[in-house]
Amino acid sequence: MNQENQSQVNRRSFVKTAVAGAGLTLVKPESVFGAPANSALTLGLIGCGGRGTHDSGQFVRITNTQVVALADPFKDRLERAKEALDKRLSERNRPLIDASRLYQGMDAYKDLLASDVDMVIITSPPYYHPLHLEAAVAAGKHIYMEKPVATDVVGAKRVMEIGQKAQGKVSLAVGFQIRFSEGYGEIVKRVQEGAIGEVVSGQVYYHAGRLDNRAREGASEGENRIRNWVFDIELSGDIIVEQNIHVIDVANWYLQSHPVKAFLTGGRKARTDVGDCWDHFMGIYWYPNGTKVDFSSSQFLKGWSDCRNRFFGTKGVADTAYSGHPQITGDNPYEHPSDDPLGNTESNKITNFFESIQSGNFINEAQQGAESTLSSILGRISAYEGREVTWEEMMASDQKYDVKIEL
Ligand SMILES: NC(=O)c1ccc[n+]([C@@H]2O[C@H](COP(=O)([O-])OP(=O)(O)OC[C@H]3O[C@@H](n4cnc5c(N)ncnc54)[C@H](O)[C@@H]3O)[C@@H](O)[C@H]2O)c1
Repeated sequence: MNQENQSQVNRRSFVKTAVAGAGLTLVKPESVFGAPANSALTLGLIGCGGRGTHDSGQFVRITNTQVVALADPFKDRLERAKEALDKRLSERNRPLIDASRLYQGMDAYKDLLASDVDMVIITSPPYYHPLHLEAAVAAGKHIYMEKPVATDVVGAKRVMEIGQKAQGKVSLAVGFQIRFSEGYGEIVKRVQEGAIGEVVSGQVYYHAGRLDNRAREGASEGENRIRNWVFDIELSGDIIVEQNIHVIDVANWYLQSHPVKAFLTGGRKARTDVGDCWDHFMGIYWYPNGTKVDFSSSQFLKGWSDCRNRFFGTKGVADTAYSGHPQITGDNPYEHPSDDPLGNTESNKITNFFESIQSGNFINEAQQGAESTLSSILGRISAYEGREVTWEEMMASDQKYDVKIEL
């Protein structure tokens, strides 16, 4: 189970519905321009941990993807991912991953990208996302990269530029699957059409349990930083960038913009035994037109967790959470029929990515992913510095991390 799912009560690890079945026609990038169609796409995985193995398994389950190559610094990670993915592949009667295609090391992504894979999933720690994305775009691969796109301002701005280079050449998805929830989508559409009137304020939170400590006795400091990247500010961006970003992205979606300024606080109080990430944040984000959003998060809870976006308007209230019926109350009431709004999000997103390749109408989520990442970084900078910070000030800055990790 991946890090994020471990902490989410009611969150499904596996989607229920296979949206696109074995009959899906897939087209290699070049086939759009006349090369042979109907061939399975080959996939390489960069970062073979919980999420990468899960995402790759979903590709195999939902489409006719052939996973052929894996890259990771650690042998145990490569072996565990191969075992899990071979199981998925054999369930679909597809060839298993050849042992010669397991690339090990911090630079293993280069060997993987030099090989003939059609697409890559990037699920390395977020600090490395700009580096891995840039190399994947240069290699002409279609890319499914997990969020966040970076951990610092310089990295997120770089992803915007890389996205422009990828435009029209390859499909580039960023892992915000909630935007593919039918329930959330219906509520967001109605809010944008005026169902709750003018949006005055919002309540956005991500309260979750703590994650496992993966440090290994006897391992080097560098190895343990990498294995425990979720607790490391430079590698993860802190919990507001790595995990809470999902609800901040949803707020941007509702409000069709990004925050103009933030004033947050927070700290390290409950989880002080590992890393340097904070364990709670809270404060205010200001959006255009004076809309204020009350934000809070935690990553140490026991017995309760909840992730929610609630917006208060002059005609009603919109409410979406990871479980329960998405709904609008007030003058224009509405309740979405599903009480499992995240149920099909991953399969919907993967299908959308595939169809974009199939049709040649390549998607590009780099700008949106970078804006949501920067929205989270804005809150982090404000909280660390204990003052109000504007979007302009952040964008003018050259805030950058340098992890200096050698294995
Ligand atoms: N969309 C979602 O709901 C969701 C859920 C979970 C995780 N994620 C995201 O997925 C990404 C991975 O998270 P995870 O939970 O799988 O973490 P993980 O620690 O389980 O996996 C990360 C893997 O990357 C490897 N790695 C480290 N440095 C590398 C490098 N330089 N090159 C290649 N591989 C490297 C690690 O050894 C590890 O195997 C993160 O960006 C995380 O935020 C998204």
